[in-house]
Amino acid sequence: MLDPSSFIKESIDEIKKTIGDKKAIIALSGGVDSSVSSVLVSNAVGENLTAVFVNHGLLREGESDYVKQTFQDRLNLKYVDASNEFLDELEGVEDPEEKRKIIGEVFIRVFEREAEKIGAEYLVQGTIAPDWIESHGNIKSHHNLALPHGMVLEIVEPIRELYKDEVRIIGSEMGLPEEMVNRQPYPGPGLAVRIAGKITPKRIEICRKANSIVEEEVQKEGLNKTLWQYFAILTNTKVTGVKGDIRDYGYLVVLRMVESLDAMTADVPELPWEMVKTISKRVTAEIPEVTHVALSVSDKPPSTIELA
Ligand code: XMP
Repeated sequence: MLDPSSFIKESIDEIKKTIGDKKAIIALSGGVDSSVSSVLVSNAVGENLTAVFVNHGLLREGESDYVKQTFQDRLNLKYVDASNEFLDELEGVEDPEEKRKIIGEVFIRVFEREAEKIGAEYLVQGTIAPDWIESHGNIKSHHNLALPHGMVLEIVEPIRELYKDEVRIIGSEMGLPEEMVNRQPYPGPGLAVRIAGKITPKRIEICRKANSIVEEEVQKEGLNKTLWQYFAILTNTKVTGVKGDIRDYGYLVVLRMVESLDAMTADVPELPWEMVKTISKRVTAEIPEVTHVALSVSDKPPSTIELA
């Protein structure tokens, strides 16, 4: 059983011993894992941790303001708007894994610039147990990251043994706002994994708007407390519709809402039908480019949580 206050105390002691008065850096995404890791390490080494929040142009609506407001008084926060750099590299790319690879590479490039400016020797990562169990089996807890230009950072993963529910408990114990610690997980590549096909500023805007409608309606219903993730996918499929008196040809948007404990498996829950219909009506009414909304009813496995 996790004892939050002794976990925090022991972690802070250990981080102080490891990082001491050297410089550390973390990529703060605004998600629960990186937020809790940032605050934990900052409580141990203060200003010696720089939390870099990179805007890759694929954030949710209002996300950059939210992160700045939540963390500017809690952390040594550095905001970097690199959206043009990311969107230039993603131009014309359709393959989902290729998108993830490009985003990862541009991210490292942007991040390395910041690490060099700071003179960082340690890289803090918000890895949690399912991340390494699902992806690599038993990756070592002590390892280094060699950045493309030769910089080597020692990795510190203060919450690597925890599961999501435990990370949330630690976040609350450290005084992070409830709304923050109970946020749904949000993938690092952001809206890129929710856009099938080409990523263009217009398609990002459509996907962002659809996602914000889903979030608003799910929150109104109070389901944000029980659902694991809830979002909208912009598909690459165009379908015939009718708006007003005229036939229209627009995008198909897929809604996906799942229950899960750790993202390794996920179930589609019973959903209030009125909420689903309201989301569908709002998405087609408020986003002119969308003519059809569908609801995903597939569990994981065999499906993944994200569709793109
Ligand atoms: P899947 O879709 O594999 O997702 O069932 C499991 C969990 O991981 C998130 N996810 C990602 N997170 N980079 C991330 O940081 C990615 O490329 C990525 N793809 C999926 C997904 O939102 C879910 O929580």
